[in-house]
Amino acid sequence: MILYFTATGNTRFVAETLSAQLGDEALNLLDRIKRGDHSPIRSDRPFVICTPVYVCEMPRFLAEYLRNTPLTGNRNIYFAFTSGGYSGISGVLARGIVQRKGMRYMGCADFTMPRNYIASNAYSALETPEIERRIRDSAAKIAPVVDAIRSGGRLRSRHVWLFELLITLPFNPVWVRVKQGVADFRVTEKCVGCGKCARLCPLNVIRMEDGRPVWQGRTCAHCMSCIQNCPAEAIEYGQITPVKARYRFDRYRYALKSPQPQADTNARKTARAAGSDRQENSGCH
Ligand SMILES: Cc1cc2nc3c(=O)[nH]c(=O)nc-3n(C[C@H](O)[C@H](O)[C@H](O)COP(=O)(O)O)c2cc1C
Ligand code: SF4
Ligand code: SF4
Repeated sequence: MILYFTATGNTRFVAETLSAQLGDEALNLLDRIKRGDHSPIRSDRPFVICTPVYVCEMPRFLAEYLRNTPLTGNRNIYFAFTSGGYSGISGVLARGIVQRKGMRYMGCADFTMPRNYIASNAYSALETPEIERRIRDSAAKIAPVVDAIRSGGRLRSRHVWLFELLITLPFNPVWVRVKQGVADFRVTEKCVGCGKCARLCPLNVIRMEDGRPVWQGRTCAHCMSCIQNCPAEAIEYGQITPVKARYRFDRYRYALKSPQPQADTNARKTARAAGSDRQENSGCH
């Protein structure tokens, strides 16, 4: 069984493609995570956990969910990470979780996808040809992963150096506390009160009040689900996001079929950002 969490669709794409090619069920964990539903999940076939990478790790709420949810039946677990190019220590943490569950860690696959983090000036939007290239390259990487899982083989995980662990383990919680506040989220007059942002928030941070979203608490996962999926583009993060194009995988699904780059609307919007910064391929977002 393929279990996944996604905020902007990259991981859903990988999960659903694995599901189709393996002929196995894919289960979106969002509702279970929102409800705190830790009832056992059973699969006679190997588990494949598909997850985005957040600040060099798998999302902490997902790690927590996996730790507390019995996975029964087959004892083998594979992981598939989607990231903007750097999966950090996700594989090491995944192996630790699996071992504590008394299950067998079968390795992980890394997929470099378009980066979806827009709440920082350090990361500008990718240009459309690069988004298309990443999607096509990742699609091409799925078949060998399917072959390995089908044959019961291990996935070859990238080597994680000791210095990556030493930097990331303390860096992640500091980043969450300092950078992942909710105070800068705001809703504009474009809001149509549909409630989608609240429904999609994995941590139930958003409450609808008088038909408009209100962010509660001090920090959240900064998963970008609310801001990227709002149908009216009515959510902003401080003064950072008004000039940033929104990203959702489905907007670029055409890239799987068409080899021709489309008009670069994404880059045009990004270029309007005064002094917009350069996009690099790695980093923690
Ligand atoms: C809070 C946050 C942190 C992120 N950290 C990283 C990171 O450390 N390394 C990286 O390469 N990409 C990082 N990204 C980019 C996502 O991992 C990437 O875009 C992923 O494919 C999104 O998956 P989704 O569309 O399924 O939500 C981060 C994104 C978010 C929202
Ligand atoms: S998703 Fe957008 S339009 Fe819908 S309630 Fe939230 S902010 Fe308003
Ligand atoms: S408030 Fe938005 S960014 Fe924060 S966890 Fe919820 S959906 Fe994700």
